[in-house]
Amino acid sequence: MQITKENAALAALEYIEDGMTLGLGSGSTAEIFIKHLGLLVADGMEIIGVPTSKRTEAVAIENGVPLIEPDKVSSIQLTIDGADEVDPGFSLIKGGGACLLREKIIAHASDKMIVIADDSKIVDTLGEYPLPIEVDPFAIALTAEKIYNALVNSGCESAVTVLRQKINGGGPLITDGGHFLLDCSCKKIPDPAETAFLLSKIPGVMEHGLFVDLASIIIVGFENHAKVMEKN
Ligand code: 5RP
Repeated sequence: MQITKENAALAALEYIEDGMTLGLGSGSTAEIFIKHLGLLVADGMEIIGVPTSKRTEAVAIENGVPLIEPDKVSSIQLTIDGADEVDPGFSLIKGGGACLLREKIIAHASDKMIVIADDSKIVDTLGEYPLPIEVDPFAIALTAEKIYNALVNSGCESAVTVLRQKINGGGPLITDGGHFLLDCSCKKIPDPAETAFLLSKIPGVMEHGLFVDLASIIIVGFENHAKVMEKN
C-alpha cells in the first residue's frame, strides 16, 4: 500500500512551481507528499503551505515546509490532498482522517485541486466507504435524523449512522474544529451531487465528506507507476 501511495505523491510533485501557495491535505498519502515537498524546499524551491489539520501542520514543520497561517492567506494556487474514494466523475469521499471541514475550506478556495490516491480508492460508485459528516454536538439526534432522511431521499442504498469514537477510547472523537463526526454507511451513493445538496441544507451539519466538482486531476498510484487522470 505504501509504495502505491508514494508513487501517487511523487507524481504530484511535477505540478509544483516556485512561488506557489499550496493547500496541504491530510492523511497518510498527503503526508508522504509533504515529506517529498520538504526535500524540494531544501533544494531551494520557494513555496508556502496552508495546512488542513493540526497533524498536517506538525508534519510540514517537521519536514521544513514553510507555512502561512490559514487566517492570513488570500489565494491558493493548488491543493494536493488524498481521498477515501474517487468515482469516475471525480466526486470524492473524504474525511476518513477527520479533517474534512478544513480540507474542504482549503480545496474550495484553491484554483485547482489534485487528488493523490492509491488504486484501492478508485470505485465505480461512491458509498462503500462510510461517508463522514462533521456535525455540531448540539441536539445531535435531531441532526442525525435529518441526515438519515437526506441519504434516503437522495437514493442511497443504506443510511446507518455511527458516531465516531476516539481511537483509544474516552468518548466521541472531536475534530480540529471542535465538532463530532457521524460515519454514514450508505453502501451506494447514486447521485453524489444530490446527496451533497440535501446534506448541505441541514443546519447542524458543519460539512460533509462528499467533494463534488472540486478535484480536476486525480493521480492514481500503482505498484510500479502512477496514472494521471484529468477532468474534461
Ligand atoms: C482526511 C482525508 C484523507 O485524505 C483520506 O482519509 C485519505 O487518507 P489516506 O491518504 O491515509 O488513505 O480525507 O480527512
